[in-house]
Amino acid sequence: MATRKNTPAATSGPAARPDPPVKTGRPARRTGGRGQAGAGPAAVPAGGRRPGRRALITGASAGIGAELARVFAARGHDLVLVARSADRLAALAAELAADHSVEVRILPKDLARRESPAELAAELASAGLEVDILVNNAGILEVGPFHAARTDRLLQLLDLNAGALTALTSLLLPGMVARGRGRILNVASIAAFQPVPSMAVYAATKAYVLALTEALSEELRGTGVTLTALCPGLTATDMMADIQAGSATAREIPALLVSSPADVARDGYTALMAGEVIRVPGLGNRIATGWSRVAPRWLVRTVAGLASRQADWMRR
Ligand SMILES: NC(=O)c1ccc[n+]([C@@H]2O[C@H](COP(=O)([O-])OP(=O)(O)OC[C@H]3O[C@@H](n4cnc5c(N)ncnc54)[C@H](OP(=O)(O)O)[C@@H]3O)[C@@H](O)[C@H]2O)c1
Repeated sequence: MATRKNTPAATSGPAARPDPPVKTGRPARRTGGRGQAGAGPAAVPAGGRRPGRRALITGASAGIGAELARVFAARGHDLVLVARSADRLAALAAELAADHSVEVRILPKDLARRESPAELAAELASAGLEVDILVNNAGILEVGPFHAARTDRLLQLLDLNAGALTALTSLLLPGMVARGRGRILNVASIAAFQPVPSMAVYAATKAYVLALTEALSEELRGTGVTLTALCPGLTATDMMADIQAGSATAREIPALLVSSPADVARDGYTALMAGEVIRVPGLGNRIATGWSRVAPRWLVRTVAGLASRQADWMRR
């Protein structure tokens, strides 16, 4: 694992600078999509980086975020990877640097802490790292009756799924607007399209993410910055495995209804580069969200209530 010279030493903790970049082995496949910022292969200036192609991905240590990192690296993007698990980030950075000609930095950070997004932005600035593409993917899920949930866990969910996403967007968007180019991919969920009893706070955060993305995509029309909401359905990641571990109902979900994180990540990248505002991966998910968009609100929540009351996680 080679590291570039003259970069700050790897450290961790709140005052840490980004780890030194892990860089390269084989030449990258250059298959960038169409659109403005970060799209398409860009020439590598001598001794410099490809302009407009650095992506910061939150929640990159596992699941959809790790697969997004693999997709971005395969298309020649330099990366900044963020999550709490430094060891998993380091292993992924080494893998990506070995497989693709890209620079990968890791920035271990607990984004549910209110201070973390500002610390992250300061560390990026002090290391001179411009972010051309922001991927707000980190998220957690809480399943079960609202009245049985721990208040601090619900607030942690709000702080991560909505707070950190909003703060990072607020901190990194001005630079994109000033440069006249940038892209933001916000990972929402099909839960964004309707209230979901038994996942009430989670679904509410995803509705927020979708509404914010749509509003900002209009606000920023003509600036060169685009926003995309990726709205996956059930996806085979640790998030789903954790629910299945404690729930027979979740284990009975047919495999046909579960997407692979790699497929979801590819869909997200394609939609982002095409400047799409909303992407729902998978035909079944598009049908489900289409129904909830046209049916009367009372009917949607009544059906969701009937379904959720059958789940064993509501009998805790
Ligand atoms: N899986 C699904 O069925 C599904 C469906 C629709 C939408 N989504 C959304 O997709 C996104 C990714 O979920 P996933 O399924 O890939 O989940 P996952 O496998 O559990 O991965 C979650 C990622 O978020 C990171 N993370 C969790 N808490 C964090 C914190 N406090 N600070 C920083 N990073 C944190 C985790 O890393 P560390 O633990 O190392 O911090 C991990 O990298 C989420 O926004 C989720 O809501 C998932």
